[in-house]
Amino acid sequence: MTRRVLLFISVLSLGSVHGQVSYSIPEEMPKGSLVGNIVQDLGLDVKRLKSGNARVYTGDSAEYIELNKDRGVLLIKDRIDREALCGKTSPCALHFQIILENPMEFYQITVEITDINDNPPTFKKSELRFEISESALTGAKFMLERAMDPDVGVNGLQSYSLKPTDNFHLKLYNQPDGGKNVEMVLQKPLDREKQEELSLLLTAIDGGDPQMSGTVRILITVLDANDNAPVFKQEVYKASVTENAPKGTVLTTVSASDADQGSNGKVIYSISNTLDDMVEQFEIDQDTGVLKLIGDLDYEKASQYQINIQARDHGGLSDSCKVIVDVIDTNDNKPTINIMSKSKTISENSNPGTVIAILKIQDPDSDNNGKVKCVTNENIPITITSTSNNFFSLVTDSVLDRETDSEFNISVTCSDEGVPSLSNSVTLSVQISDVNDNAPVFERRSYEAHVKENNSPGLSIFSVKARDADWNQNARVSYILEDGIVNGVSVSSYVSVNSDSGVIHAVRSFDYEQIKDFRFRVKAQDGGSPPLSSNVTVKIFIQDQNDNAPQILYPVQTGVSQVAEMVPRSADVGYLVTKVVAVDVDSGQNAWLSYKLLKATDRALFEVGLQNGEIRTIRQVTDKDAVKQRLTVVVEDNGQPSRSATVNVNVAVADSFPEVLSEFSDFAPDKDYNDNLTFYLVLALAVVSFLFILSIIAIVSVKCYRWRRDRLFYKSSANLPVIPYYPPLYADSTGTGTLQHVYNYEVCRTTDSRKSDMKYIRPCSQSVISLDASGTQTLPHVQEKGTNEDSDDQVSFAH
Ligand SMILES: *[C@@H]1O[C@H](CO)[C@@H](O)[C@H](O)[C@H]1NC(C)=O
Ligand SMILES: *[C@@H]1O[C@H](CO)[C@@H](O)[C@H](O)[C@H]1NC(C)=O
Repeated sequence: MTRRVLLFISVLSLGSVHGQVSYSIPEEMPKGSLVGNIVQDLGLDVKRLKSGNARVYTGDSAEYIELNKDRGVLLIKDRIDREALCGKTSPCALHFQIILENPMEFYQITVEITDINDNPPTFKKSELRFEISESALTGAKFMLERAMDPDVGVNGLQSYSLKPTDNFHLKLYNQPDGGKNVEMVLQKPLDREKQEELSLLLTAIDGGDPQMSGTVRILITVLDANDNAPVFKQEVYKASVTENAPKGTVLTTVSASDADQGSNGKVIYSISNTLDDMVEQFEIDQDTGVLKLIGDLDYEKASQYQINIQARDHGGLSDSCKVIVDVIDTNDNKPTINIMSKSKTISENSNPGTVIAILKIQDPDSDNNGKVKCVTNENIPITITSTSNNFFSLVTDSVLDRETDSEFNISVTCSDEGVPSLSNSVTLSVQISDVNDNAPVFERRSYEAHVKENNSPGLSIFSVKARDADWNQNARVSYILEDGIVNGVSVSSYVSVNSDSGVIHAVRSFDYEQIKDFRFRVKAQDGGSPPLSSNVTVKIFIQDQNDNAPQILYPVQTGVSQVAEMVPRSADVGYLVTKVVAVDVDSGQNAWLSYKLLKATDRALFEVGLQNGEIRTIRQVTDKDAVKQRLTVVVEDNGQPSRSATVNVNVAVADSFPEVLSEFSDFAPDKDYNDNLTFYLVLALAVVSFLFILSIIAIVSVKCYRWRRDRLFYKSSANLPVIPYYPPLYADSTGTGTLQHVYNYEVCRTTDSRKSDMKYIRPCSQSVISLDASGTQTLPHVQEKGTNEDSDDQVSFAH
């Protein structure tokens, strides 16, 4: 501060005012500071001051300045505060007088007090508080308190500043009183979320030197406004859930944050899909954002869900996010099997690889859960192959045979590869249709039947049966008699075959004595196209019946004459009188003959050999015995019932022929005739004996020939032991005596006729059959038959 001394010398009118002087001093000078040298300025000297008893007169006002008489200067007596002295009034001056006595004079002194910057601008409060909504618009004004600075002029309040100026700037309005109103203007919106409280410093500055300032803190609390929408942490959430997940399964939790406070910051979650059924499947907790499953999922219907979720605060601001829920397939679907086409029947001659059916097999599951494999049941010639995606075909894989399997039940089982695997199966059946691939087969390789002779024509003998493994028409067997020749005539004149039943009927009555057996063939033919056939040999054996009575060959019975056998009276016991010779054209038992004595003149004298027909004496002949003995011998065969023949044998017990003749004269009324008869009798005996010898020779030779042939052709059957069977009555005794050969002949016949039942017609029987009872033409007849026997044999087997 410079001290300026202003000296005003004014010539005042004498008397009261001798002069005046002005000074100017800054305020706040320390005590004792020099204000001015009034001696000098007023032109006085110190003595005068003393003498004049100079003093300062201020009236009522306080004395800030004193006079130092010794030095003649004015000094600061008390601190001068301009602001206190003058307030805002400017200029500010102290007016006082220096009064002198002896002479009385006074001087006017003016001391101007100049301002110094001794006061900073000040605010009444140390801080200002505001609550401003963050939604306040830019340009909003907030009145601030003015600062006060008692200093004046340049030292007074000059300006304000506000720091920081991020959101607000100051605006000053000049007031009529010269002061300035201060306003704070929002120039950038507040954001509570960024800064909840702002602290500004308002500084008021004066213009002094040094400059002084005052500050006030402005505290601004930013009030929340719902200016923030909720924000999801993620735009997209992903979740996966198996399709069989139970209701209530938590899928995920979404979270949105809202920067606002209180209810403005409270978020409510909801599912915003409206068009689909999402709300039936999913539920979100509106407070926590936990997304739950509430419905049933089916991968096959929807494998993914996109759920739009909205987060909304109470102010209505919202955000949305998306939850992608992948449904994980579980193996919950069986494969489905659809039969697209199927043959009901296939022919048994179909080639392997024939397609029977086409199936469509699907499994809506994915991956392995949807991969399907199919198998058919085993043991059938049908497999399943995959042709293309989802399509399978059933094909035959080997040759079919309806006769072994006429139908197949194909069970197709398809299973997927899921764990655990699910499977499904279907059964379809296919019929194998018949092809005529089987010929009829007779039940036996050959047939033999026995039929008794003398059957009635039309008799059903037996039936042949052939089976055909084919079906229906292809298996309908008809029987056909194949033509052949039997005994020189067509076989159809012997038998007929019922074409449906295979029953063989006799067409005529058979005669064992004419034909003993015959063969023919029967063909079995099926109804297929072309037909198949097979044939079988049928052999019919005709069985003998006892339809022929024994025929007595010897003794020859004639109506007119009687031959008598001679028995000498000297004959011993057991003398062979004669032998009854009989034959039976039947065979076997029916031809087994037994001889019995039916009547006798003297039963005690003769007996008949049961088997051989030999008549022998059983006691010594005596003279008493009558010459003429008459025996009746019955010859019976062994048939059932048996047939018989009787013969009368006349025996003459005599030593000489005349004796006999005389005795037998009653037999022969005519003597000549009797003589002739005797002659013929003897002749007949000779002829018969000769004939038997011839027969024996012929039989033996034929037998040898036949035996050899048997050995050649029937080796196997020849091995069969031929066990001759004789009923117990027929002792196999050897005959003795004159008619030995005759006896032998009988044995031969009997044995052979047994054998012939099984094998062949014997030549001996053939020859005997044809023997004429009359006996007169036997020789040529035997020869004739003997030469024909072989051809006869062959005829019987001709076909
Ligand atoms: C096939 O199934 C049917 C009906 O179940 C049955 O009657 C028939 O015997 C079966 N066939 C075969 C060859 O198993
Ligand atoms: C009879 O069958 C046989 C085979 O068993 C055959 O060789 C023969 O030719 C057939 N005969 C006729 C006439 O069909």
